[in-house]
Amino acid sequence: MTNDLKKRIVSGMRPTGKLHLGHYFGVLKNWVNLQDEFDCFYFIADWHALTTKYNDTNDIGQNVEDVALDWLACGLDPEKSVIYLQSMVPQTACLHIYLSMITPQNWVERDPTLKDLAKIMKDRQENMSNLSYGLFGYPVLMTADILSFNADFVPVGIDQVAHVELTRDIARRFNNIYKTDYFNEPAPKLTKIPLLKGLDGNKMGKSFNNDIKISDSEEITQKKINTGITDRNRIRKDDKGSPDNCEVIFDYWKIFGSNEEVNQICCDCKNAKIGCAQCKKMLANKVNQTLAPIREKRLELQKDSNYIKDVIIEGSKKAKIEAQIVMNGVLEAVKMYH
Ligand code: TRP
Ligand code: SF4
Repeated sequence: MTNDLKKRIVSGMRPTGKLHLGHYFGVLKNWVNLQDEFDCFYFIADWHALTTKYNDTNDIGQNVEDVALDWLACGLDPEKSVIYLQSMVPQTACLHIYLSMITPQNWVERDPTLKDLAKIMKDRQENMSNLSYGLFGYPVLMTADILSFNADFVPVGIDQVAHVELTRDIARRFNNIYKTDYFNEPAPKLTKIPLLKGLDGNKMGKSFNNDIKISDSEEITQKKINTGITDRNRIRKDDKGSPDNCEVIFDYWKIFGSNEEVNQICCDCKNAKIGCAQCKKMLANKVNQTLAPIREKRLELQKDSNYIKDVIIEGSKKAKIEAQIVMNGVLEAVKMYH
């Protein structure tokens, strides 16, 4: 629920489909923890998805629901936070127009992540000249997402900090041009997140097929963990292992195990008291145990097929009301006829 005394937070995630453990540990756990202290707005960034996948939209609706379901299963609470869909809040698009007028083109051009996105387009063998107007303007749209609620803080990963800096620059420019102090300059809120690698040692990601989904069954989780990289020099079970060189499995232990368990595994590995197969089996049990309440809740929520849709629609209604209040102030500041 919105609350005047609490500082505001806005953050969003693209609808990429079912979420994995990297999302959970890197983002969601943190979002869940912020819910009591802050007035939180969390949204599914479906317009942002269109910036790169405008011609591949068959799954977008399903992906939106899958993301929302994972969010709620992980503990985002529609009673505490405003959970909404970006495209259901047209006020953000409207604000984007006003911001796009005052944003110098070269501020957008120097955006570092835009270069990465351009690379994605290139990898999809599309000519760079096909970088769309919308993709190019995506940092300004992100600014509109944040300023639509006049946020105080934006919890993001390090890769998104440049965007929050741009948001601050645009907010300041708006205030200067229209001689107002209307917009806050929102600050990034970084979390110290343990980086959870994919099972092959690369960054965890859906497209690399190296992830464990929040919604995976216990069997699938076990199977996936069995493919995880271990100490590559350890060939036979009676070879002594080196946890420090166990790229993935031991790293996971450090996230999922207690200190005691981690020490025990470390010791048993070094003394060849435990084989990698057994170690992985134990880890999978541990991961499944940790995820059990989340997975149960997910199944529970899924039983009512309308529930998720209702949550998205109700949350978006609340977001629209708040964003319209901010928009009214913008019309006033810009001196638009209204
Ligand atoms: N750009 C972010 C990402 O790709 C998602 C996002 C869109 C976002 N708008 C935002 C995050 C506003 C925080 C605030 O991960
Ligand atoms: Fe890694 Fe465990 Fe094998 Fe040791 S026993 S190398 S910690 S998987």
